[in-house]
Parts: sequence; structure tokens; C-alpha cells
Amino acid sequence: MNSAHRVRLGVLGSGKGSNFVAIADACAAGRLPAEVALVLSDVPEAGILDRARERGLRARHLAPGPYRSKLDPAAEAAYVQALQEARVDWVVLAGFMRIIKEPLLQAFPHRIVNIHPALLPSFPGLESWKQALEYGVKVTGVTVHLVDAGIDSGPIVAQAPVAVEDDDTPATLHARIQQVEHELYPAALARLFTGRLEVVGRRARLRTPHSPASGQTG
Ligand code: GAR
Repeated sequence: MNSAHRVRLGVLGSGKGSNFVAIADACAAGRLPAEVALVLSDVPEAGILDRARERGLRARHLAPGPYRSKLDPAAEAAYVQALQEARVDWVVLAGFMRIIKEPLLQAFPHRIVNIHPALLPSFPGLESWKQALEYGVKVTGVTVHLVDAGIDSGPIVAQAPVAVEDDDTPATLHARIQQVEHELYPAALARLFTGRLEVVGRRARLRTPHSPASGQTG
């Protein structure tokens, strides 16, 4: 990829949008060679839409249809169309609480990335910080992964640990996990966009421009 090219991002989120803010700030600061082309939400009052509009970025609510945990086929087609019309290169899930199906996966093969608030494969699904507390693990964390047709099951790109303290509540643990998310997600995306991604089986490997295996010299 031409190093001058800024990757065009489509960001999907259902919630308050703190990961989106971390990504948008990293783009603005030049730490992430990307720009947010479009923000989409399945929730009309989601904070992520306000955070995007405050920054002068395009943001739209797109109705998800009648299902609770996925987009209905017509809705998913509308998401694909909006992302393609915005000439999006990568789709970034930032707290998007619906399963992604074939139309989106086929439109952006190995170009959809998600952040999950646990060390996958532990605690997939909802409220992973609560799952971690209830299980009693001493370490949980954050995972950035490529999205496939499963639930939080795609090849892992980056992970970082978060210690569970004896006096943690769900709120305090999630707050510390989110601090780590806000560092890890932009950094992992920067590596994804500047390196060369190889996916072999479950293993996602990144060749950076400086790694000997990339075939480049100097
Ligand atoms: C984040 O903690 C993210 O990891 C989680 O939703 C939160 C969104 O927060 N995602 C999932 O649980 C996906 N399975 P945000 O709206 O402040 O970025």
C-alpha cells in the first residue's frame, strides 16, 4: 500500500463510542494513517453518532430490522451499500452489538475488525467483564480480532492483559478494560494498515515494512 494513502474507515457502533473517539483522535493526531469516512449505528440515540457529528464526520442511524442480535438481510444490504458508497476500505466494529453475516463479510473479506473486552477465546458474547468477575479469573483483558461468521471467533490480531483486583465491581473492571482498549485498538489498526496481513488457518500474522520476511530491503 502506498504509505501516503489514508485508509478509509467505516466505523459501526451501538453504544457511547469511546473506542470510536480513541480511533478518531489517533487519526487526527497522525498516529493512525486512516480517516473515518462514515459512522453507522443500529441505535438511533447512540452516543457514537453524536461523537462523530461533533467531529464533523458523516454519521447515520441505519435501522437493523426486527432481530435482536443480527441485522436482517435487507438491513445488512443497506449497511453494505452505505459503506461501499462511502468508499470504505476497512470496517471497524467499535461496540457494535450485532453478529455480522455473509453479505458484509463477503463485501469486506478480512477487512472487518472488532474489539472485544476479554482475552478470547475466554468470555465471548455480552458483558465479558461480568463473565470474568463471575468466573473468578485473576487476569482478563482485551482482544482485537478479524471478524468471521462466528461470535467473537475470528483470527486474533492483538491482545493485552488487565489484572482483576479483589475489590473490582463490573463497573471498575470495565473502566480499566476500556482504558486498555483505547490504547490497543488504534495501535493494532495502525499495524494492520501499515503491514501486510497473512491469515493462515486461525493465525493472523502481520509483516511490517521492516520485517525481513516482507521481502523489502533497507
Ligand atoms: C467496548 O468495551 C467493547 O469492547 C465492547 O463494547 C464496548 C463499547 O464501548 N464490545 C463488545 O462487547 C463486543 N462483543 P464504546 O461504545 O465506549 O466503545
